[in-house]
Amino acid sequence: MVEARAPGKVILLGEHAVVYGQPALALPVQRFVTVRCEPAARFQLATKPIIGGDALEEALAELAQEFGGPKLAVHIASELPLSAGLGSSAAVAVASVRALALGANRKLDDAQLLALAESMERRFHGRPSGIDHTTCALGTPISFLKGEPNRVEKLRVKKLALVIASAGPRDASTREKVLGLRAEFERDSRRLEPLFAEIGALATTGMAALARGDDAELGRLMNENQKLLTKLGVSTEAVDSLCVKLTKLGARGVKLTGAGGGGAVIALHDEPERLAGELPNAFVSRWEDA
Ligand code: MEV
Repeated sequence: MVEARAPGKVILLGEHAVVYGQPALALPVQRFVTVRCEPAARFQLATKPIIGGDALEEALAELAQEFGGPKLAVHIASELPLSAGLGSSAAVAVASVRALALGANRKLDDAQLLALAESMERRFHGRPSGIDHTTCALGTPISFLKGEPNRVEKLRVKKLALVIASAGPRDASTREKVLGLRAEFERDSRRLEPLFAEIGALATTGMAALARGDDAELGRLMNENQKLLTKLGVSTEAVDSLCVKLTKLGARGVKLTGAGGGGAVIALHDEPERLAGELPNAFVSRWEDA
């Protein structure tokens, strides 16, 4: 029996704009997807989370080919809320690659892990920027700039705690949200391009704020980012009203995280555990440079 895991992620600043070549900041969360493989008569997905459907089966079958078609039963378990913008599919991809590599006795370097996880993510999401699986694979806060190759740097984080709360089910998948915005971009790139650039500038400013532990500035940047996400049309009434509620409860900054359309919201608050305790299904994730 072999087992491997990968964390989920939050995007602190820069989702969607990152697909269009702007920088974004992402952090792994302390909740994991675990993939366990056991010897079996044939390769099969024995226990699956309620995401991915056929795409997950196909992506795993393709991955199994890469490892010479091992006879394994694959069990996937997730501590992450699924399809909430917290990187559950990226974590499934990374943990699956790790587990199958272990099962096949193959050592992978980071580049190989990222390439295999990316091809799974493409099956789930079409044309993702790559920020999700890169964060889940490296397991460290990163700044990410899409390109050939992507530019990935480890982020300095003096000290940060975020409350991760739920604005309820999403109205569309990440794939649909990204494709919807792509269609809008093709119709009206002159409106969207400056919004993407503004979001990218917030992410760039955010790097220094994170490094010095400046929560006042980070909160301001998150709030600005949320306004721009609303202008992009990826926020919802449920997200907006949760943002208002959390701000009234003292959050310095609140925004959706991930592709939007509902799902997870992140909040920066001086007493994160107290805030999380007041909300259903909320939890706190923390980061600090060693
Ligand atoms: C989803 O977590 C982040 C998006 O920017 C899509 C992507 O970067 O692939 C919305």
